[in-house]
Amino acid sequence: MRNKVVIGNWKMNKDNEDALSLIIEILYQNKSLIDLPEIGIAPPAIYLSHFTEKLKNTNIYLVSQNAYFKDNGAFTGEISFSMLNSIGVKYCILGHSERRQFFNETDAEIALKVKQSIKCKVLPVFCCGESKDQRQNDSYFNVIKTQLENSLFKLSKEDFLNVTIAYEPVWAIGTGLTASANQAQEMHAFIRNEIKKAYNSEVAEEIRILYGGSVNAKNAEELFACNDVDGGLVGGSSLNAIDFFEIIKAARS
Ligand code: PGA
Repeated sequence: MRNKVVIGNWKMNKDNEDALSLIIEILYQNKSLIDLPEIGIAPPAIYLSHFTEKLKNTNIYLVSQNAYFKDNGAFTGEISFSMLNSIGVKYCILGHSERRQFFNETDAEIALKVKQSIKCKVLPVFCCGESKDQRQNDSYFNVIKTQLENSLFKLSKEDFLNVTIAYEPVWAIGTGLTASANQAQEMHAFIRNEIKKAYNSEVAEEIRILYGGSVNAKNAEELFACNDVDGGLVGGSSLNAIDFFEIIKAARS
């Protein structure tokens, strides 16, 4: 049985005071609930170290939104996976469509990041997804297949087992348009089958595949009820503690 996970990606939002209030509200919401899925919070990197203290002895894990693939050195402005590991960050989001689009991250660079992440014992949350055009011209299965092959499937089986995948159709991110439960299930089953072909069925059954793209308190339950949807990567709705916890509750088994 795969246990579900819900990760809130704050992106580049919340100044210090607002970030602190949000994390306090999240801890408050979390306190009164039991049987929760795994929960992750990906605040802007500047808050990670401070949040380690806040999240100590809780069931909420820290997630980084990015890191660089080199061990260390003269790479102004970057942070390394070993730094993330040294402050207790559990996961790192990699290959997010905003990084691909605005920072020109390629499949090859993302592959290096995934590898380095695993080497430094930070678990990668690998994002893949097709654009609106690719959905409309029916090339979306091929697009996802290529992203998986280029950035993940060269990993050894042992390394690959550390990966969580997030299917995030680009046309659904921050747009209020969500993939229907059928569209999500169809793609998640496709991804699982590709994993089976690249590795084997045991590996395919173990890997968690999250859905991301305008998940909210209203649509989460239907999406998370799909067989192959193992939780969510949530942007906008994770900026409000009450909405975020409605989504988390929808992932309870
Ligand atoms: P959204 O973002 O929930 O605001 O659509 C999802 C994501 O980018 O991970």
